[in-house]
Order: sequence, then C-alpha cells, then structure tokens
Amino acid sequence: MEYWNNRYLDNGKIWGTEPSKTALYALKLFKKYDIIKILIPGSGYGRHTKFFSKNEYEVTGIEISETAMNIAKGFDSDSKLILGSVLNMPFNDERYDAIFCHSFLHLLLRNERGLFIEKCYNQLREGGLAFFTVFSEQESSFGRGAKIEENTFESKLYRPTHYFTERDLLDHFKTFSVIETGIIEETESHGGLHTHRLRYIFLQK
Ligand SMILES: C[S@@+](CC[C@H](N)C(=O)[O-])C[C@H]1O[C@@H](n2cnc3c(N)ncnc32)[C@H](O)[C@@H]1O
Repeated sequence: MEYWNNRYLDNGKIWGTEPSKTALYALKLFKKYDIIKILIPGSGYGRHTKFFSKNEYEVTGIEISETAMNIAKGFDSDSKLILGSVLNMPFNDERYDAIFCHSFLHLLLRNERGLFIEKCYNQLREGGLAFFTVFSEQESSFGRGAKIEENTFESKLYRPTHYFTERDLLDHFKTFSVIETGIIEETESHGGLHTHRLRYIFLQK
C-alpha cells in the first residue's frame, strides 16, 4: 500500500486519463453479453471505472491506496468506489455480471493470487464474465531483481511481480471456463516510452 501511495503522491494520474488498449478490447467483448454490473478490483485513480461508467455500466471499484482513491473521487463521480483490500472481499452481497481487472493480479504472491481469484469467482453471478490482464514472461523486465517465488521477481524495489506464461495463467483459472486468451501490447509514456506485453484472459463462471 505504501509503495502505491508514494507512486500516486509523486505522479498523480500515472497512466493518464484515457483507458488502456485492453479496456477498449474488453468493452468490445462485454458488449456481446448481457452485462449491467461490473466490478473493478485494484481500480487505482479511476480511469477504468470512469470508462465503463461512461459506457452505461453500473461500476464498482475497489482500491487499497487512499491517495489513489482521493484522486478517483475527484475524477469519477459516476462509479461506486470502495477503499479496501480486494483480499478482504466481499464488501457487500452484490453479485456482478462481469469483472474487469487490469494490471493487478501479477502484483500478488502465489497464495494471495489463489485467494483473490477464488474471491472474484464468488463475486460473480452464475454465467458471469471476467477479463484479467497480467504481466507476461515476454515483458522486458522479466528476470530482473531478486527472485521471490517461481517466475516472480522484485523488478522494482518493494513491488514483486509475477510473470505469467500462458500455461501458468490457465492453471490459475481452472475453476472458470476459458473463452479466450492472448497478448496485447500496451505502450505507456510514464518514465519514458515503453511497451508492455500483457497477457489477457477472458473467462466465464
Ligand atoms: C498497476 S496499478 C493498476 C491500476 C488500475 N487497474 C489501472 O489500470 O489504472 C495496481 C493497483 O492495485 C492497487 N492495489 C494493490 N494491492 C491492492 C489490494 N490488495 N487491494 C486493492 N487494490 C490494490 C494499487 O494501489 C494500484 O492502484
């Protein structure tokens, strides 16, 4: 939490105000289904809660960083925003039609990832959908920094990152039905222009 509070204090809206390319793709997929309520775990300062709200969904974001939450409250007045750890879900008895979770799961260690995925599963209605993006083993930072667990490195100090192969990602989501997986290149300009090779997985409960 301290790592993220400091990053948001230093850089504000780190990734800008526009949605990621993966969110645009998730929206295209979501539009094919009957979705009203979307949950966004690790919602940061609200660029994606705002994006899906603007696209007429009922959106709830959960975020652990108070600094990010304060920015989000001034930026996105349409979504419901909850301050807390997604590892403590549920915060209500809602069942969501879909989950959109961008660039968050890889920040958790093995046991936490299992717990988080189980909690996400429980937050979805039967037939509910989920779209996750994660760092892949094709990231340029793969293998950099101290090794913490299998394929998990402290590539930035105090921010261990798990790098997912496709097999590994599929193994994490065995309780779901997999609709689609792939890689999306996401170019960002904070701290110099760089491109992530993110894996995504689109699932159904
Ligand atoms: C890489 S950022 C992505 C933010 C957002 N998904 C986006 O794309 O703009 C990861 C976010 O997860 C949040 N986070 C980290 N651990 C969390 C936890 N246990 N519960 C809720 N949020 C968490 C961080 O504070 C940070 O805002």
